[in-house]
Amino acid sequence: MKDRASLFEKRIKDRDVIVCVIGLGYVGLPLVKTFLNAGFTVMGFDVDQKKVEMLNRGQSYIKHVTTDDLIQYLEKKKFQASFNPNVLSLADAILICVPTPLDVHKNPDLSYVLNTTQIVAKHLHEDQLIVLESTTYPGTTEEEMLPILEKGGFQVGVDFYLAYSPERENPGDPVFSTSKIPKVVGGVTANCCKIAKTLYDQSIVKPVPVSSPRGAEATKLMENIFRPVNIALVNEMKMLFDRLDIDIWEVIDAASSKPFGYMRFTPGPGLGGHCIPIDPYYLTWKAKEVDYQTKFIELAGEINTFMPYYVVEKTGDALNERGKSIKGAKILVLGIAYKKDIDDQRESPSLKIISLFKKKGAQVSYNDPYAQETAVYRDYPGLKLKSVPLTEKTLIDFDAVVISTDHSEYDYDWIVKNSNLVIDTRNAVKRKRKNVVKA
Ligand SMILES: NC(=O)c1ccc[n+]([C@@H]2O[C@H](COP(=O)([O-])OP(=O)(O)OC[C@H]3O[C@@H](n4cnc5c(N)ncnc54)[C@H](O)[C@@H]3O)[C@@H](O)[C@H]2O)c1
Repeated sequence: MKDRASLFEKRIKDRDVIVCVIGLGYVGLPLVKTFLNAGFTVMGFDVDQKKVEMLNRGQSYIKHVTTDDLIQYLEKKKFQASFNPNVLSLADAILICVPTPLDVHKNPDLSYVLNTTQIVAKHLHEDQLIVLESTTYPGTTEEEMLPILEKGGFQVGVDFYLAYSPERENPGDPVFSTSKIPKVVGGVTANCCKIAKTLYDQSIVKPVPVSSPRGAEATKLMENIFRPVNIALVNEMKMLFDRLDIDIWEVIDAASSKPFGYMRFTPGPGLGGHCIPIDPYYLTWKAKEVDYQTKFIELAGEINTFMPYYVVEKTGDALNERGKSIKGAKILVLGIAYKKDIDDQRESPSLKIISLFKKKGAQVSYNDPYAQETAVYRDYPGLKLKSVPLTEKTLIDFDAVVISTDHSEYDYDWIVKNSNLVIDTRNAVKRKRKNVVKA
């Protein structure tokens, strides 16, 4: 006779299970789509009633999950969203994609994960798989979640299965959608890993098993620390080469011609998004537990945090050369999203740049084809702007136009032609022009 874990695996392969995604945001919603496309019945649970109602009406709030996708699945009765936690009792596999932000002191705020785990624990039943996908520090799954889940008497690896599998979603990436990105999986027990791997095997190009949730949690942080450290390096080079009158972009292009031992990273106006500026500090916090200081993370943070200030300084210098000052200048910031071709404003350096210009007395406006108004964040309580139209008349009216996010939709030649001064933080303007300053 087959053991319980093998029977559960068979049900997964037969699509005889209900998958429930908790947290229907930038990560959760594409994950819903991935499992629907793989033939599963999927439920979505979110505490945000507005999002749930939109989804059940077939309306999407994320660019790459289309309304057509949603309507198709709603009609086939393969998908339903809910804000009622009782739906969790119906689920066989629960994938948790809730936020893992920092608190005001830059310490991990695990409250979303812990609250969700409490809710899951209330509805836990036999033969249920729970996977945490949110980015977090090593130890979260086993030290924080497991005790809550086992409190009711169920035993992990026997009655239910618990694993960690970090999301590697790259919003707006046209090539690597969720199903095409290999997925690291670490289970609390061998059975937990096996079951989680089987689930992802059905929908994701290649699950990559590791020996424990801690290994998987650390893998995600390693990936997310690698980026800001390397970005900080090129940002520092940018500032140094500027003083030496060397074009950093030419250097990067030339260095990238080396077929081995070099990886291209590009400088910019600062870090943005929910991951790169935040996740490294989860490890910094954990490291203190074992008397270790994460020096690379701190140094990279220092350099990258300075970048918006550098952009403002370079703008001030360029205006100064034209007999103007930031105080009283009319400045247009192009792109409020933290990276090109998406609408996500979280931790966007554009918001910081705008607030710094405002502090210095500039009149600031912005344009972004994907974001009609600035989102409300703790760090910028008074910042409420609406995107202004981009016309020849508006452009010439500004003393400086700052390219903060290089959306593909912008016609950079046209922008340069019609602007008094352009500050380019992304090398969006390829040819040398008199009225363009790289920053
Ligand atoms: N955005 C990315 O590109 C990305 C990439 C990889 C990993 N991650 C990680 O994935 C996690 C989620 O990030 P996101 O960008 O999707 O966040 P998000 O804010 O877009 O979505 C989170 C969702 O969770 C919901 N939520 C909050 N508390 C809840 C609860 N108790 N129960 C149910 N729903 C709840 C929110 O209403 C929201 O809809 C984070 O840990 C993040 O670090 C994000």
